[in-house]
Amino acid sequence: MNRKYRKTVIAGNWKMNQLVSGVKPFMEELKKELPQNKQCDIVLCTPAVMIPAMVKAGKDCKVAAGGQDVSKYEKGAYTGEVSADQLLDAGAKYCIVGHSERRQYHHEDDMLINAKARALLAKGITPIICVGESLEQREMDLTIEHITYQVKAALYGISATELRHCIIAYEPIWAIGTGKTATSEQAQEVCEAIRGVIRKMYGARPARAVSILYGGSMNAKNAEELLAQPDIDGGLIGGASLKPADFAAIVKATDQ
Ligand code: 13P
Repeated sequence: MNRKYRKTVIAGNWKMNQLVSGVKPFMEELKKELPQNKQCDIVLCTPAVMIPAMVKAGKDCKVAAGGQDVSKYEKGAYTGEVSADQLLDAGAKYCIVGHSERRQYHHEDDMLINAKARALLAKGITPIICVGESLEQREMDLTIEHITYQVKAALYGISATELRHCIIAYEPIWAIGTGKTATSEQAQEVCEAIRGVIRKMYGARPARAVSILYGGSMNAKNAEELLAQPDIDGGLIGGASLKPADFAAIVKATDQ
């Protein structure tokens, strides 16, 4: 983390878990566990149907609501899709785009992810843009090339002013839901490279100001070491965001 230049962000990704009726009790538990003086911004990215409940329950403990995906279209005949305008109206301040599960199961490509990030920015929602390599790519020593491509494609056409409202999340696919965390050195190396790509695209100042998160089996035990790395500005947390005590422990780990 480097609080002098950028925000620390702890974001949970509930994926397709929890229920609307469970939001209030979850948040009551979380409220009890969270430190009074939080050293970071906290977000919970829920299924779209839970966003209004999260906005309501998160108000007095300053937890923002986020979505997990958005349509690239503004509105119209796109059955099943949720637009950026609808997310905004429901109260979302953030939205994940390009998660590896969407890339893998819904065949999302980098061009689509770019369009989605731009659709969010047009409505003032912060995109949390996910990038990450597979195990094969890591073993073939293609990690940095792959990540560079993903970052460049995702940010295409996004201005330096808009970049200030973007968050990048580095999530190595092999570390998601597997219990295998990247070592803090591996995570730092890639997050530093991501900042380097952004520096080349936008210059030193914008690169210094962008928050880069790590995601992939982050938990209460490994969070402190990961967050101590200079280019890791927070976490995108799956499994451990489903339990209030575990999620709060990660928030506390920013207090170093
Ligand atoms: P886990 O923390 O469960 O590995 O999930 C990470 C993730 O995919 C967050 O977006």
